[in-house]
Amino acid sequence: MASKLWASRAASYLKISAFHRGFSSVLKDLKYADSHEWVKLNGTSATIGITDHAQDHLGDVVFVELPEVGTSVTQGNSFGAVESVKATSDVNSPVSGKVVEINVELNSSPGLVNASPYDNGWIIKVEMSNGSEVNSLMDSEQYSKFCEEENSKH
Ligand SMILES: *[C@@H]1O[C@H](CO)[C@@H](O)[C@H](O)[C@H]1NC(C)=O
Ligand SMILES: *[C@@H]1O[C@H](CO)[C@@H](O)[C@H](O)[C@H]1NC(C)=O
Repeated sequence: MASKLWASRAASYLKISAFHRGFSSVLKDLKYADSHEWVKLNGTSATIGITDHAQDHLGDVVFVELPEVGTSVTQGNSFGAVESVKATSDVNSPVSGKVVEINVELNSSPGLVNASPYDNGWIIKVEMSNGSEVNSLMDSEQYSKFCEEENSKH
């Protein structure tokens, strides 16, 4: 069974990786969920992936479980999973809506999530059903702080 990105199974390696922490990048124009996904907005279209911080903690991604186009997703609920050499983590949707595109490149190149988390490693695009949900997401500054606080707990 997949666990949330930072659930207990992840905790053992988080302690180790905390020693080389510190320089995960955060992009200014994106919005962030506390489960470590990012959203890039363009009108009602939202591109979604996992953050640099998340991929760094997961380690080498070996498989990405993608939803099908047309699937409905709900804010805070899992739509897929990312499997790394260390753990399998659910990926939650930061917004509600319908999946309009999936990054099929990830089927053959799951490592794009590590190499390019904010760009070529995007996971899905969602046509949002409720624009006001983005108000509950963090901006880059809040997310950076959130990651620092989380690191300092380990
Ligand atoms: C935003 O979406 C519109 C319409 O689909 C598209 O033409 C435009 O290139 C997009 N802008 C960016 C920055 O992706
Ligand atoms: C849209 O999202 C906001 C914020 O999460 C919520 O309060 C509101 O009930 C939602 N509206 C609909 C129609 O689901």
